[in-house]
Amino acid sequence: MNVLISASILSADLGRLAKEITRVAEGGADMIHIDVMDGQFVPPITFGANVVAVARDATDLPLDVHLMVDAPERHVDDFAEAGATLFTFHAEATHHVQRHLQAVRERGMRAGLALNPSTPLGVAEEVVNDLDLLLIMTVNPGYPGQRYEPASTAKIARARAMLDRHRRDARLAVDGGIGPGTIGDAFGAGADTFAAGSSVFGADDPAAAIRELRRRCAVTV
Ligand code: DX5
Ligand code: ZN
Repeated sequence: MNVLISASILSADLGRLAKEITRVAEGGADMIHIDVMDGQFVPPITFGANVVAVARDATDLPLDVHLMVDAPERHVDDFAEAGATLFTFHAEATHHVQRHLQAVRERGMRAGLALNPSTPLGVAEEVVNDLDLLLIMTVNPGYPGQRYEPASTAKIARARAMLDRHRRDARLAVDGGIGPGTIGDAFGAGADTFAAGSSVFGADDPAAAIRELRRRCAVTV
C-alpha cells in the first residue's frame, strides 16, 4: 500500500495553526493528524471539534482525528459535523467497540481503532471487518517527542499478518516516535500510515522532513 504521512499538529505552532497546516499540506503531507485528549484517558487536555473545524477550513486534506478520550462515542456527531475524515478511538476507552465503529461509519467517517502498547492485538481482530484503520501506538499516548517503543515492531508485523489473513485492506497506522531513524522499522514490519509530530513540525523544513520519511520507506525492503 502507498505510504501516507499524517502530520500531527500537536507539535505545530498553535498561534498560527492554519498557516502551519497549509505549510505541511504544501510540503507533501497526506493527512493532518489531530490529537484530541481529555485529561482523563491521558493527562493532558488538547483540542476539540472546534479545532477540527479550523483545520477543515485550512485544507482539503483528510483530517485524521485521534481521540485519546474516555467514552469517545459521545463525540461522534460533533466530529462528523466539524469535518473529520477519520475518527480513531482507543479500544481501552470504551465498552462497546464494535457498536461505536459502526456508528462512526454511519456518520460518514472512516473508523479507526487504536491500541496502546500493552493492549493485545486480538481486540482488533474481533472487529476486523468494522475497521478502516488500525492504529498501533508505538508510545504510550499523551505526549509528543517520546521514544519509539522497540517492541512495537513485532506487534506491527503481527498486525500486518492479521489484516492479511482476513484479507482486509484497512490501513495499518503507527503513532509515536516516528522519525527518520524509526520509520523504516515500522514500514518494514508492514505499517503504511505514519503519524509524525515533532519530526515534521520540529524540523526547520517540514517539506524536506516529509520527503526524508518517504525516502526511508523507499529504501527499506
Ligand atoms: C501522542 C500523540 C501523537 C503525537 C506524536 O500521544 O498521539 O500523535 O503527536 O508525536 P511524535 O511524533 O512527536 O512522537
Ligand atoms: Zn496521535
